[in-house]
Parts: sequence; structure tokens; C-alpha cells
Amino acid sequence: MSQNSRIKHAALRQKIMPAEAAAELITPGSTVGMSGFTGSGYPKVVPQALAKRMEAATAAGNKFRLRVWTGASTGPELDGALAKADGIEFRLPYNSDPIAREMINSGKMEYFDMHLSQVAPMAWQGFLGPLDTALIEVSGITEDGSLIPSSSVGNNKTWLDRAEKVILEVNSWQNAALEGMHDIYYGTALPPNRVPIPLVKPDDRIGQTTFRVDPSKIVAIVETQAPDRNLPFSAPDATSLKIDGHLIEFFEHEVKKGRLPPNLLPLQSGVGNIANAVLTGLNNSRFENMTSYTEVIQDGMLDMLTSGKLRMASATSFSLSPEAAAALNANMGAYRDKMILRPQEISNHPELVRRLGCIAMNGLIEADIYGNVNSTHVMGSRIQNGIGGSGDFARNAYVSIFMTPSTAKGGKISAIVPMASNVDHITQDVQVIVTEQGLADLRGLSPKQRAETIIENCAHPDYKPLLRDYFNRAREHSYGKHSPCLPGEALSWHQRFIDTGSMLP
Ligand code: COA
Repeated sequence: MSQNSRIKHAALRQKIMPAEAAAELITPGSTVGMSGFTGSGYPKVVPQALAKRMEAATAAGNKFRLRVWTGASTGPELDGALAKADGIEFRLPYNSDPIAREMINSGKMEYFDMHLSQVAPMAWQGFLGPLDTALIEVSGITEDGSLIPSSSVGNNKTWLDRAEKVILEVNSWQNAALEGMHDIYYGTALPPNRVPIPLVKPDDRIGQTTFRVDPSKIVAIVETQAPDRNLPFSAPDATSLKIDGHLIEFFEHEVKKGRLPPNLLPLQSGVGNIANAVLTGLNNSRFENMTSYTEVIQDGMLDMLTSGKLRMASATSFSLSPEAAAALNANMGAYRDKMILRPQEISNHPELVRRLGCIAMNGLIEADIYGNVNSTHVMGSRIQNGIGGSGDFARNAYVSIFMTPSTAKGGKISAIVPMASNVDHITQDVQVIVTEQGLADLRGLSPKQRAETIIENCAHPDYKPLLRDYFNRAREHSYGKHSPCLPGEALSWHQRFIDTGSMLP
């Protein structure tokens, strides 16, 4: 009971129990809505106790599997442990855990890779089925039984409301100064009762700082003191610096043309190394007084807040390296007024992204010559991570930008291909593509003009002649001449990679 200071509600203290006892309350085959978003604020000890039960069940010749819903990716103690125990029958949404990825790609785990803003509404609409248990990490419980959120908000509000029973992990590793940073909006409704969401600036607060929960649904509380999983970002290299340079030049040009204000518009920056590196570039740019309306606050954004280049950041979660997490944790109070963490249906809401005019900057796996973007599937079938929030932002942004090195796997794969082997973002949702080779501004261009611009500006020199050759032949021989295509050849680069290990002939 040493950490009871985090649980201020006297009656709820009676529900404290060990992780193993809490895990016993979860029934095989049931659906569990867990907290967690990109390695922040996920439950850490009950999932590991569940994994042990699952392993014991397998050893006894039985199966113990769950349907797992989260906010987005979590950590090794959750996705990794459950996937290793073959305990996830079905999972949604975004995953980046390598063990879970392997289970999905080997066909042993079902996975629904959906737009992150749509998870909570779909759950409310009843499209996802009933939710048996909510397993949520919080950083404290107030005297009146309200829950102080942790380092991510994700879908927790919805899981707490929808679940039949609730298990809480109260994690005293999370800084107590998180209290007050969150903005939990309770005004969403189902059609036909929806009303406009009253948020017109990234720093507007429209909700309350805590989650409410019916205390009679809480069946267990487990105390923890366990760190979030924090993964390092790779340091910006020559490639990402070039991408960054092209992008800053583009922003300067847009400001000069009067198409962007001098402090830009609210930034959205996706997951991954490239997106993080671009923020480092923005921090060194001449732009001042920027804001962000985004999904995750990563290292680059924290640096921008520290330097003052970024006035404030709105997101649903932190996604920090160990060093950045330690720096934030040591000084949380100083950042509290500069950050707002919201439910993911609000951080990623299409209505708000369109209203605010976000500048969306996301990574990609491959783009085709017409600007269709594949964010998710390698060679059309192997899931890398998932679409995450990229679709929420790309379709509704003021400018939708996708960034990538022009090649992958040491040059054996071209990121610019004749035809995308999977399409997450259709050409209409992709306005700018940037590689280290250059930037293609596709706004207002026809398909053939797009193809010429992408090939010339973005393709790697090893692949540019091959793309030109394909495009020229397609222009001549294509069935239709609007978006020239040779169907029998368009995916042959992918087949060549599968057969030989390289897209190069
Ligand atoms: N073919 C095969 N593999 C590819 C590839 C391609 N065309 N492009 C990238 N990859 C691989 C890389 O080789 C690397 O693999 P590794 O981890 O085995 O080294 C991995 O994908 C990550 O690529 P990297 O170049 O380091 O870029 P990144 O960290 O910026 O991630 C995405 C790029 C596309 C994977 C990442 O941005 C993503 O998951 N996006 C989808 C979700 C999203 O956009 N969310 C943000 C919304 S808010």
C-alpha cells in the first residue's frame, strides 16, 4: 500500500490486488480494450500475468486467446508478451510490435488496421462487437473516483464507458505533474445527434482533465511503478537532412506566395525516423511561433517546445526516446501549459484537421508514379505497421505531404514504383511527395503531369531510367491514355524483388 497516495478514493483502495489476481478476472475468448498509444500509457503488469496464463493453457493442451483493442501500438509487455504466448486472436488498430507483426504476417493473428479516429466511433456504433473488459493505465485516482490519465489518452474514455468491467493499473512511475495536461471531451454523439466540436484553435480546451468511470464497474486495481517503453530514434542522416532541406524550402516558398502564414499552420508529424528528423530541421529553421495539432509528441517536437519555436502541441500521446522521456519526466511541470493530450478521436478528427488546416507530414513505404501511396504493406502483402492516423490527416489536411528515402534495403527497393502494390492514400489525398532527390508538388496536376514530376524529382538515379522507360511505353500502349498503365508489367518490379531480392533487373 506504499503507493496509495496515487489512489485517493477510499472505497476503491479496497479493490487493490496483485496483477495475477486481476488477470484471473479476464475470461478466455473475451474482448479487452487496453490503454496505450505508441509505447506510452499501456498496462504493463496485467498483460504479462495474462501471458503466463496463456502459456500455461497451451502447455496443458488448451488455448487461451483474447480479442485485443488498443489506442495504437503499445509495448513489449503487452503486444509482445501476448503475441509471444499466441494469445491474441484478433487485434485492432495500429501495431508496430515485431512479434505481433510476425504473427500477423504468418497468418496466425487477425488484424484490423483501421483509421485511428474511427476506432471509438465504430465501437460506439456497435460495429466492433461488445467490449467485456477495459484494462487501463492511469496515473492516479482522485477523491471522487475520477481517473487521472497517463502518458497517452488514446481510446481510454470509450473503453471505460463501453466495457462491462474495468481493471486499472495505477502507475506511479508516471509523473504526478501530468495531472491537468489532458483534455477529455465528452461531447461526441452518434448520428443523428452529432453537433460541431467546439475547437477552433490547437490550444482550445473543450473537455475535462480526468476520465469519469462508474466505480461499480471497477473490479480490480493493480499498483505499478513501471516505465513506458521508449525506443530511440535514429539520428538524422544525410538522407533525412536532404528531405528536410527540400521541405523547408517548400514552406518558405509557400509563405512567400502567401499560401501559408509566416508561422505556418498547425503541424502534424507522423511516426518514424524521417518524420522525427524533419522536426529537427524545423527547429533549426527561421519559422517561429509554430503550433502542432498532431497524434504523437516525439523528440523533435519536444525540442521545438523547449526552444520555443513551437508555442504549443496538441496530441493524444508521447512517443519519445528514453533520453527525451527522462528529460520530460524531470521537468514535466514546465511543459504542462504547452501540451494538451486528447482522446484520439479528437486529436485525429477529420472535422478538426480540416478546420485547423493542418500541414500533414507522414512517412510512406512506396508511392507510384501517379502519387498513390502505400503506407502499410511491403510487396503488397506483408504488413509493416498500419495506416495509423495518416489517413485521418492526409485526406483532410491543408497540405498533405509524404516523405521517404527514394530507396529501401540498401537500394534493392525503389520507393517510387510503376504501380503501388497496396494503396492507403489515393492520389487525390497526396499533394506533395519528398525524397532526398527532391520534392514533387502535385497540386493541380493531371495524372500524366504527376508521373513526370514524381519521376523527375523524386526517383533515385538507379531507377529513374527504368521508370521513364515504363512510363513512355505505357503512354504509347496503354488501354486508356488518362492514367497510362501496362497491367501485366506494373507490378513486375515487386515480383522481381520477391524472386531475386532486388527490384533492379
Ligand atoms: N519496402 C520494404 N521495406 C521498406 C520500404 C519499402 N519500400 N520502405 C520502408 N521500409 C522499411 C525500412 O527498410 C525499415 O525497415 P527496418 O526496420 O527493417 O529497417 C522500416 O520500413 C522503417 O522505414 P524507415 O525508412 O526507417 O522509415 P520510418 O521509420 O520513417 O517509417 C513507415 C516509415 C512508412 C514504416 C512509417 O512512417 C509508418 O508506419 N507509417 C504508417 C503510419 C503513419 O503514417 N502514422 C502516422 C500518422 S499520425
